[in-house]
Amino acid sequence: MESNTRKRLIIAVDGPAGSGKSSASRLLAERLSYRYIDTGAMYRAAAVAAYRSGVSVENDVALEQLMKDVVISFKSGRIHLDGEDVSRAIREPEIDGLSSAVSARAPIRKALIALQRRMAENGGVVMEGRDIGTVVLPDADIKFFITASAEVRGRRRYTERIERGETADLEEVIEAMKRRDERDAQRELSPLVPADDAQVLETSSLNLEEVVDRMMERAKKHGI
Ligand code: DC
Repeated sequence: MESNTRKRLIIAVDGPAGSGKSSASRLLAERLSYRYIDTGAMYRAAAVAAYRSGVSVENDVALEQLMKDVVISFKSGRIHLDGEDVSRAIREPEIDGLSSAVSARAPIRKALIALQRRMAENGGVVMEGRDIGTVVLPDADIKFFITASAEVRGRRRYTERIERGETADLEEVIEAMKRRDERDAQRELSPLVPADDAQVLETSSLNLEEVVDRMMERAKKHGI
């Protein structure tokens, strides 16, 4: 009985790169048996589509058509482009840079925001990105903005790269993180800022479990 009457909330999670928001959102969704939607993966899939079709990031007409021609979806938590699992392809280094450029284009944002709203309409979702609480789902039941210092986020990114067997320079990773923050906060479309009604979680001195515990505390107040 109880599970039928339980509310299926819409939870928005935003924050900068390396803040740990993806891991926290995924774990929160798991604990609540909600769907986890990584909108960054959707922008990355759009970048893979542009890359493969040779469409220039400057060409808005072609980008608009491209978004009509491709299907971006999640199956069993993995990102698909036209039915193909592109979960690995979206993490390739050339897609990193391209996804940032692609995500600044209006036709791409328009198409993906519409798709994201449809994915969230029945509730029971944790949607994570940069503009979820501010633009995509301004009426979300709960909003979090997860952040950490550039040093902490840079160190996490650096460790990930080293663990993957790549080479990296810590100072350079931290500087790149700061440059990207600045670009993301100042861009015209969907700049990265906390929604007025978001709970800001500064996670520099928290581990993943502690972050998710805080999110759960808030969710419980909403009758979950
Ligand atoms: O979180 P990420 O690094 O996987 O995101 C990939 C790119 O997409 C990154 O440049 C930020 C952008 N993005 C965005 O503009 N809006 C979102 N809701 C999610 C990601």
